[in-house]
Formats: sequence, C-alpha cells, structure tokens
Amino acid sequence: MLIVKIGGSVITNKGKYRKIRENIIKRLAYEFYPNDSILIHGAGSFGHYLADIHHLNDGLKEENRLEYSKVSRDLQELNTKIIEYLIRNGKPAITLPLHSFHMVGEEFNYRRFVDYIQRGFIPVIYGDIVLDPKKGMSICSGDQIAFHLAKALRPERVIFVTDVDGIYDKNPKVYDDAILLETVSSKDNIQFDGIFPDVTGSMEGKMRAMRAIARLGIDVLVINGLVRGRLRRAMVGDYVKGTRVLP
Ligand SMILES: Nc1ncnc2c1ncn2[C@@H]1O[C@H](COP(=O)(O)OP(=O)(O)O)[C@@H](O)[C@H]1O
Ligand SMILES: [Mg+2]
Repeated sequence: MLIVKIGGSVITNKGKYRKIRENIIKRLAYEFYPNDSILIHGAGSFGHYLADIHHLNDGLKEENRLEYSKVSRDLQELNTKIIEYLIRNGKPAITLPLHSFHMVGEEFNYRRFVDYIQRGFIPVIYGDIVLDPKKGMSICSGDQIAFHLAKALRPERVIFVTDVDGIYDKNPKVYDDAILLETVSSKDNIQFDGIFPDVTGSMEGKMRAMRAIARLGIDVLVINGLVRGRLRRAMVGDYVKGTRVLP
C-alpha cells in the first residue's frame, strides 16, 4: 500500500484565494497509479488564505464560526475537482472527509479506509477543519493525516508531492544557491522559511510529520508534482529525483 499526499502548493496557486491549477490536477489524476493507494491532498489557497486571516487554527470563536463553514465549503469544492478528474481517468475515488469522523485526540478511525480499499476504491482525504476538544475547532494538515494513516496502516511508502524538487538546505524559492538533499535525517541542519501563508507550518510542519513517519520504519519520499512523470515513477517504484527522509 502507498500513501500519497499531494500538496496544496501543487494543485492551487497559494498566492491567490481559491485559485485552482486545473491542468496539473488533470495530469496528476492521470499519473496516479492506484495499487492499494490512499490519496491525501492539501488545501492550498482554498484553505490557508481564510484560515490565516481569521486565525482558524487558534480555535472557534463567536466571530469566526461562519469562516469555518466557508473553508469547509471551499475545501469540498477543491476536493470535488480532484475526484472528478480521477473518475474521468477511470479511478474509483471516494472521499472520506476528516471533519465528519474525527476529533483531535481520539484514535484515528482508519478502518473505514481499509474497508474501501478492500472493495477496490481509492480513499481520498484532505487537510481539513477538525473538531477539537480544547479549542472547539482547529485545523489538521494533510501532512498530519499522512502520519496518522501511516501509523495505523503501515504502508510500504509515503510520497509527499510538493512544488519543489525535494528538501533543500534552505528555501529554494528564496535562495538561488540552495542545495537539494538526496536524503535528510535528524542530524541535518535545514533552514525553513515560507513566502505564503501556511497555517500548518509549511515545509517545517511537513518535516515533522515526515520524520515521525520515518521513525516508524516507513520509506518517505518528497518529490516535485509540477514536473511531468515524477508522481507516476515514484508510485511504480522507479528512481525519481527527490529527497528520501530518514529517521
Ligand atoms: N529547506 C526547504 N526545502 C524545500 N522547500 C522549502 C524549504 N524551506 C521552505 N520551503 C518552502 O516550502 C514550500 C513547500 O511547503 P508547502 O507550501 O507547505 O507545500 P505543500 O502545499 O506541498 O504542503 C516550498 O514551496 C518551499 O518554498
Ligand atoms: Mg503545506
């Protein structure tokens, strides 16, 4: 089994509210190779934009309740586009929205994912608003979902698809001389800084989730989804440019 997380940075333009990258979604839906795989996708500008302005990760307040509702609507819209293209490619995807079954702190209900996989479906889930016993509501990133699912289901490999070639020693979008790292481990000193709002910690948050997965003894790979063919190659197990995350 594979778990693939496609970042919001790939399928949306993170700098513009609700800006979808339809051609990329179309291509990735084609490249997706469904051998017992689960697809997780990020929110990009369908989530982080409003979540950032209204501090949705800080918790539910009287004045931001409607904003959770709007974010949930926007995410569902992005998700529908992705499902649409998977279906057009003959891939039987079904969404299990996190907010409908999960509360922070509870054991992750992964059994439903297995039930769908056993029936030949591709379960899809996305970074989402979530019930929170302390804060009322909060946000759970696709990267965190990848960790929870990996812990429960022990896939062969978890592939993180993002908008850069892998992990660099520093942000490649800020520094021209950033160096791509073929492998990273906890010993490596990596610099992170973002340009776009990402309420779940951007590459640094992703790194935490990836290291936690690597510590379970599961193969973790970061690849660039903007380059044609890389997702397919990574899914079939061929060599592909990227970064392997070690414990
Ligand atoms: N050391 C680093 N190596 C790679 N990318 C980095 C690094 N530091 C910051 N970044 C930024 O992290 C971004 C990817 O994180 P994010 O926007 O959260 O992606 P996703 O939407 O896939 O979760 C890249 O576009 C890059 O600009
Ligand atoms: Mg992110």
